[in-house]
Amino acid sequence: MKGWGKWKLKHEKPNWKEKAKKAVAKEAAKHVENGFILGLGSGSTTAYAIKEIGKRIRRENLKIYAIPTSYQAMLQAIENRIPLTTLYENLEIDLTIDGADQIDKNLNLIKGHGGALTREKIVASASKKVLIIADETKLTEKLGKNCPVPIEVLPFAFPYVKRKIEQLGAKTYLREANNKVGPVITDNGNFIVDANFGVIENPEKLEIILKNIPGIVETGLFIEMADAVLIGGKIGIKELRKG
Ligand code: 5RP
Repeated sequence: MKGWGKWKLKHEKPNWKEKAKKAVAKEAAKHVENGFILGLGSGSTTAYAIKEIGKRIRRENLKIYAIPTSYQAMLQAIENRIPLTTLYENLEIDLTIDGADQIDKNLNLIKGHGGALTREKIVASASKKVLIIADETKLTEKLGKNCPVPIEVLPFAFPYVKRKIEQLGAKTYLREANNKVGPVITDNGNFIVDANFGVIENPEKLEIILKNIPGIVETGLFIEMADAVLIGGKIGIKELRKG
């Protein structure tokens, strides 16, 4: 079942960032145990982890079922022969491996630059352990610096939500699709608004305010959800833990 991915040209040499992403993905795959229900995040770093998990399943004959957080993750899981399940069948996820767009020192995150934030947050929330994998460019002193917060919005409510978010001081951008005219439509049939708040002094408070706006389906602020973060840098890997 191959052929959904992009061709990798033979002469293409991976740069340090790709190597770092592969290294953390490989390390994260080691945390998977026989019998686990796994949450599969979305994005390019998690894609490497899905490949590694697939290899381990086949090599070690592991009995694993995975819940993907997007069509991207679902197709990659199928391509790598990882058996799938749903929250209907398995409501307790042992481990979720996912990427992030920004990570602060308290392991709070901005996610959703791949547009999969809602399912990612649900799956993370249903998980006993959430392991984030990223290269070191994702680390930041404070969330929001040069990084908008993706917000999934019900199309019906878009003008109202846009105004409410702008009243909070953010600049908003309706995410435009590539290779399709008009806005990005998420896997859940909604719009994505990228909200640029600048440096966010109190992400916990902002999350509560945003979640109180009718029409906002979910935000890309992941507060106290990550248990550990594996960071890949130019010289190796480091693990950051909560607390
Ligand atoms: C998708 C996400 C991704 O995890 C995030 O965008 C990181 O992606 P990448 O590993 O490609 O940098 O939140 O919604």
